[in-house]
Amino acid sequence: VGLLVVAQSLLVWLSINFENSRTQEQLDTIAQSLIVDFRQAFRLHQQNLHAILWNEPSATQWREAATQLLRTEREFLRMERRDLQLVIEDRINSPFLPSKLAIAQHDWVGQGDDLACTASLRLGNVAYSHSYFIPGENGMGQEVLDLCVPIQTLGRTSGFMVSTLSLPRLLEKVVPTDVARSNEISFVESDGTRLARTGTLRGTGQFKAERLIDVHGVALRLRVESNRGLPDLIPNLTTALVLGLSLGLGGVVTLLARDIRKRAKVEAALAEALAVRHAMENSLVAGLRARDLQGCITYVNPAFCTMVGFAAAELVGQTTPYYWPPESVTEYRQRQARRMSEGSPPQAGFESMFIRRNGERFAVMIYESPLVDGSGKHTGWMSAILDISAQRKIEEMSRQQHERLQATARLATVGEMASLLSHELNQPLAAIASYAVGSLNLMDAQGSWSDDTPALLRQAAQRIAEQAERAGKVIKSVHDFVRRRQHAFESIRTDHLLEAVLPLVRLQAHKSGTRIEINTPSPAPKVVCDRTMVEQVLLNLTRNGIQAMEESVALAQRRLVITVAPAQDHWVSLQIMDHGSGVPADVQSKLFTPFFTTRSEGMGLGLSLCRTVIEQHGGRLDFENHVDANGKICGAVFRFTLSMEGASLRGKRAVLPPPKI
Ligand SMILES: Nc1ncnc2c1ncn2[C@@H]1O[C@H](COP(=O)(O)OP(=O)(O)OP(=O)(O)O)[C@@H](O)[C@H]1O
Ligand SMILES: [Mg+2]
Repeated sequence: VGLLVVAQSLLVWLSINFENSRTQEQLDTIAQSLIVDFRQAFRLHQQNLHAILWNEPSATQWREAATQLLRTEREFLRMERRDLQLVIEDRINSPFLPSKLAIAQHDWVGQGDDLACTASLRLGNVAYSHSYFIPGENGMGQEVLDLCVPIQTLGRTSGFMVSTLSLPRLLEKVVPTDVARSNEISFVESDGTRLARTGTLRGTGQFKAERLIDVHGVALRLRVESNRGLPDLIPNLTTALVLGLSLGLGGVVTLLARDIRKRAKVEAALAEALAVRHAMENSLVAGLRARDLQGCITYVNPAFCTMVGFAAAELVGQTTPYYWPPESVTEYRQRQARRMSEGSPPQAGFESMFIRRNGERFAVMIYESPLVDGSGKHTGWMSAILDISAQRKIEEMSRQQHERLQATARLATVGEMASLLSHELNQPLAAIASYAVGSLNLMDAQGSWSDDTPALLRQAAQRIAEQAERAGKVIKSVHDFVRRRQHAFESIRTDHLLEAVLPLVRLQAHKSGTRIEINTPSPAPKVVCDRTMVEQVLLNLTRNGIQAMEESVALAQRRLVITVAPAQDHWVSLQIMDHGSGVPADVQSKLFTPFFTTRSEGMGLGLSLCRTVIEQHGGRLDFENHVDANGKICGAVFRFTLSMEGASLRGKRAVLPPPKI
């Protein structure tokens, strides 16, 4: 920028200088050519004056010739003929003489004529006087010169011819119009006083040239002054062009500098953002993995490398990565192809199994999303991978604990029912005993056997077998219930589910005189569930219902209604309604809290276990008090939902239908 400023200033200074010297040169040339013109004019004057006096004219001839000269040469104002004592003999004024000029008056005498005439005598030629001023009207006037020529008569000087030459008119005549248009031309004195001038405009004083014209002893100083002022700062087109271009260049340089500064700022911001991104990637605990559209790994973050135990360099570029378990490669490939062809991976993520470098298998949760570049083009897939092996372990432990708790609860239930069991088993055992005693008695009295005794014995043995089978069934149902079965989801009909728990329900119902009613559609809907768990839910709820009616309700009203009905969206609702006193308002909020109970012998685990089981199945457990026509609470309804066979459970929650009362 500094260089540019220096170059610019130098250029301007040089071009101004050049312009100045060119103007001065032009002025000098004009002055020089004017000098030549003036010399020529003076020479012509001399010749004309000599021509008048040629052949020693008579007074009349002189007058004619002088008049003629005054008419043709306008710069001469007057011509006089004088004797040797310079006394005027004859005088002729120019026809162009301004009347107001003092010279027009008859008695006007020129100054310095004596000296001029003396000089002319000495030279024998035209001599000039010093210039002097002839006043005119309103302070105006003219600067003039007198020219003196000795008049010769018969070889002797007989007088003088004095002609008055107007300097302004001389200037007007000699100076060409084009020169006068752009310059002021003047005769000046040595001190600079202007004597006479011509020119359209006054000179500005910036450019001037002075020359001396020496005419027979009189030196006239001619000054040419240009009316041009100082040249402009930008004197011509070329300079303007160069200046403009270099200013443009300057502008471009400035813009470039700004651009570079901006770029540097953006680069710094970018570097900072990159550093932050790297720091973030390095401190992330979730694994990140990017794959292109062909499934080839393009990026993995340090957390992912730590998770699988392979270095980034080993993984990038792979389509079948080392962390895929060898037995699952085909399945994973198909899964990947399916997801990519669908175009949108599951939002909720999906579970997978990876293998570490040391061979350990571990569960991961993968959240995948399309990778879209800055121009909006889909370039691949970005995955966030979470190692959920620790979580799975905790879940497994909790599941086992839960299972143990369930088993304990089952045992407790059975323990509670021990007296009922003994009562239930007592009947068949008593029957067996009496049939056995009867049979023994018959066998002892062998001598008195009638014809139908073997038939009676056979019938008794049959009854014993029936009663034993009945007792065996009771034992089996308890055994089935308590036994730890394989926990697995299976498709099962609801009536089969109910049948499995009914013997136990009836055991309890029998004791309190409760009637069990079952409403189930035909054919009964099939549900997908872990039957052991759901059986326990049914048993808990029916048990609660029976217990609720045990004390306060009249024997005739002890009714437990179990209703199975299909609900909307492929759900099946199971409803257990009792006719007890309902759930009191202060109990409602704590109902599902573990270990909350109002019964002295209760554990308070029944409902909390029920809700956990039903929620694990994706369903809902709810309750409601139902009221009779008088608005009085006349029982509680507990409902839960199970998914119907063939329904897709993912992302759906059961909506409970209104209770059927
Ligand atoms: N059908 C019902 N009618 C009225 N109250 C009920 C009903 N079912 C449960 N309750 C109330 O809810 C409480 C908690 O029931 P929950 O089944 O969880 O425990 P519990 O029956 O007391 O003990 P247990 O662990 O032996 O089942 C009961 O103590 C009772 O007060
Ligand atoms: Mg209970």
